[in-house]
Amino acid sequence: MRVTTRDVQRFKAQGERFPMLTAYDFPTARLVEEAGVPVILVGDSLGMVVLGHASTIPVTMEVMLHHTTAVVRGTERAMVVADMPFLSYNLSGEQALGNAGRFLQEAGAQAVKLEGGVRVAETVRRVTEAGVPVMGHIGLTPQAVNQFGGYRVQGKTEAEALALMDDAVALQQAGAFCVVLELVPDNLAKSVTERLAVPTVGIGAGPHCDGQVQVIHDLLGFGASYIPKHARRYADVAEVVRGAVSRYAGEVREGRFPDEV
Ligand code: KIV
Repeated sequence: MRVTTRDVQRFKAQGERFPMLTAYDFPTARLVEEAGVPVILVGDSLGMVVLGHASTIPVTMEVMLHHTTAVVRGTERAMVVADMPFLSYNLSGEQALGNAGRFLQEAGAQAVKLEGGVRVAETVRRVTEAGVPVMGHIGLTPQAVNQFGGYRVQGKTEAEALALMDDAVALQQAGAFCVVLELVPDNLAKSVTERLAVPTVGIGAGPHCDGQVQVIHDLLGFGASYIPKHARRYADVAEVVRGAVSRYAGEVREGRFPDEV
């Protein structure tokens, strides 16, 4: 049985901090689940860390479905949350519901995540009422990077902080089972976490959120040219890959690989 939205809400009720991590393919998803992570996000960050785009904006529904399907195949117990890509939920409630449904029906995800607060609350209501669990995402919402003018901390002024609180409450009222807070000052993340009955999941939002989420490439030191300040590197996979590949290449050149059969 997979982790459900009720389990995620129970984490908060029982004061249990929980990890969430991105994965974009079958073997990584399998390893992340084996390591005990209960919620896996197929983030549209894959556009940047896997596909090499400068932002998440070029990511399409087809790309997200493709990667979500692989992550679902690599897992048995984790909840798989699929990110709804840029403009896949903003045109109308029908469009949002149709696309959200594809993640459950075609890719086998258990929930979707979409960016925005008050402005998407009606969409969240529409999608959740149809039976698709929704994770909200406010603060720095990367799909709006061109509007923000960069990846900056949000909610620093009193007016911004009040607006962010309104966004969080609107998402909860619309039925979101969980809310991601990205690049939000610690004290604001703490207030939102205390105010909401549903869990908050922080990224660059300090230690007071109910859960934490990170992009796995940042954690593993795998290929990312830019590591955000809030990330902590737990491994140097780039060095492991470089070392192994250059040993292989050297052995081929020197005639030491393969062995005689
Ligand atoms: O796309 C993503 O990986 C995300 C997380 C950073 C929250 O949205």
